[in-house]
This record gives sequence, structure tokens and C-alpha cells, in this order.
Amino acid sequence: MQLYNFNQMSSVLLGGSLGDRSILVCQGRCCRKDGSKKILTALESQTSGDIKVMPCGCLGQCGNGPNIIILPEEKLYQRVSPKDVSVLFLTHQN
Ligand code: FES
Repeated sequence: MQLYNFNQMSSVLLGGSLGDRSILVCQGRCCRKDGSKKILTALESQTSGDIKVMPCGCLGQCGNGPNIIILPEEKLYQRVSPKDVSVLFLTHQN
């Protein structure tokens, strides 16, 4: 799993609607091929009511997936695997 700041593209891709604690999980074709559905399912099964987990379209980072974005921190994680899910929740708890 790799981490990048995502703030330069987020306002364009998300229409500037940042704020709530959310996890966006790319479900674009390339990320689905790399297993993003399993990431989405794992995140949805472990989330609390305070964190929204949502599928999203291509994030323009194809080839490095599965890709997810943590908001409001605007952190882009690439090559996420299901075993990373617990670490992600611990890292981004309030
Ligand atoms: S399909 Fe996920 S970044 Fe393009």
C-alpha cells in the first residue's frame, strides 16, 4: 500500500464537496480488475456509522489500484489490499 496527498485533484473530481469523514473506493474498470470490489466490501463490513464508505468512479490513477481516498485528509492510497483495511481505520480514526 502506498500513500499520496490527493489535494490537487480532489476539488476537481469531487466537485469541491469535501468535509465529512469518508472513504472513496474507486470502482473504475482498472481498479475493479485489481480487486477494488473486495476492498469496498471489506471497508463496508468494518466501518462504523461515523465513516461513510462510498464507491466512486475512476480517479485518474489507473495502473496503481486499487485506489482509495480518505477524506477530509485527502490522502490517496494505492495498491490497497484487503489486509490493509484494519490499518486504514486505525490510522484515520478521529
Ligand atoms: S480505474 Fe481506478 S483510478 Fe482509474
